[in-house]
Amino acid sequence: MITLGVFFGGMSVEHEISVISALQTIHAFPEFKYNIVPIYISKEGEWYTGPGLTVVSNYRNLPKLLSWCEKVYMTPTRGDFNLYRYKSNMFKSKVVTKIDVAFPILHGSYGEDGSLQGFFEMIGIPYVGSNLRASNIAMDKIATKYMCQSCGIPCVDYMWTTDKEWFENHDEMKAKAEKIGYPLIVKPATLGSSVGISKAANEKELEAAVDLAAKFTDKIIIERMVQNLQEINCSVYGSYHDCKASVLEEPIRSGDILSYKDKYMGSSSTKGGAKGGMKFGAKGGKMAGAKGGSGSMSDSQRKCPADLPEDVTKNIQSLAIKTFKEMNASGIIRIDFMRNKETGEVYVNEINAIPGSLSFYLWEATGKKFVDVLDDVINVAIKENAEKQKLKHSFDQNIFAMGGGAGFKMGGAKR
Ligand SMILES: Nc1ncnc2c1ncn2[C@@H]1O[C@H](COP(=O)(O)OP(=O)(O)O)[C@@H](O)[C@H]1O
Ligand SMILES: [Mg+2]
Repeated sequence: MITLGVFFGGMSVEHEISVISALQTIHAFPEFKYNIVPIYISKEGEWYTGPGLTVVSNYRNLPKLLSWCEKVYMTPTRGDFNLYRYKSNMFKSKVVTKIDVAFPILHGSYGEDGSLQGFFEMIGIPYVGSNLRASNIAMDKIATKYMCQSCGIPCVDYMWTTDKEWFENHDEMKAKAEKIGYPLIVKPATLGSSVGISKAANEKELEAAVDLAAKFTDKIIIERMVQNLQEINCSVYGSYHDCKASVLEEPIRSGDILSYKDKYMGSSSTKGGAKGGMKFGAKGGKMAGAKGGSGSMSDSQRKCPADLPEDVTKNIQSLAIKTFKEMNASGIIRIDFMRNKETGEVYVNEINAIPGSLSFYLWEATGKKFVDVLDDVINVAIKENAEKQKLKHSFDQNIFAMGGGAGFKMGGAKR
């Protein structure tokens, strides 16, 4: 049986959402299908494992939960996929278990942005989801724009700046932003869950919006606000050579901007049978205590499938596939679009390399069992890793053994 290390939590503002997404996924697996090892990463970056981590109600008292768990780590040694405990003794060996496949279910910084993926690359373990480069493109809204612009994927006009540049070259930067034209949307470049985002309809609001965004990241993106906005999300899963687009959903906002509250704490109004948010699959009964609890993810308001003509749906799905391929993604991602309902213009807004709830509700609405999607992406991880390991990592030519002066130039060697 495959031992699946599910990593979640993490040093991110979306820590709690990750716990929910991971537990939903863990509980979607039928018993005994995989040997699941939960690895919880605390907000401070410490790793823990233990069976208590799969019970959502235990998170109400985190210190108590962690006191039942083992503090663990992995080493950066290539080929060493062991999970080690800090405290071993004569009854407990140093190794907790060996992991066959890593499954990061983290949102935001240090987990969805390529950091952890970089560690997995270093040690050579198969891992589910996008590689570090694709993860980083998705996480950085500026990098996403660069990618879209370079391959003809429509995105909204924008500029970006840093908080330092905004304050030091204030007039120039403000003029650049105003050239795009009010109303503008101002966002931290590398955050999620609508944190730090605001609308600016005039100069005064622009200053306040930049101040707010600068509290969260140093890179700030300022873009044209799409009018008559309809938001449309589409999940894509698989690999470059074989990927599928889901049905589309339309999240419903309570104000101008789809807020953290709309996303995770909205009231339930799902149309078309696709339940989102807090649902725990096959073993859901065990998790019942968590539903609707404070701070937990509940059904956000969404229409699923989105109310769109067939040709628009097809166009958005094919743009989603194109985006998945151009960024060289893997696993399950979600691409969020913005559409001007009056003009019909469609733009890619952002890419989520590890979407909330792993978009299981979109796959269920597409007629695909979530557990089959999970099996597929685990298999993709194993296959892609096997192919990667076959690639040559060195070019066997000992330049040090070459005779004096044989093309070996200090200072100019790397070309
Ligand atoms: N250019 C825009 N025009 C209109 N609304 C926008 C624009 N950009 C973002 N929004 C609103 O703000 C919300 C959050 O922005 P988004 O870029 O998706 O950031 P996050 O990564 O935090 O989800 C969107 O869902 C949308 O409601
Ligand atoms: Mg968003």
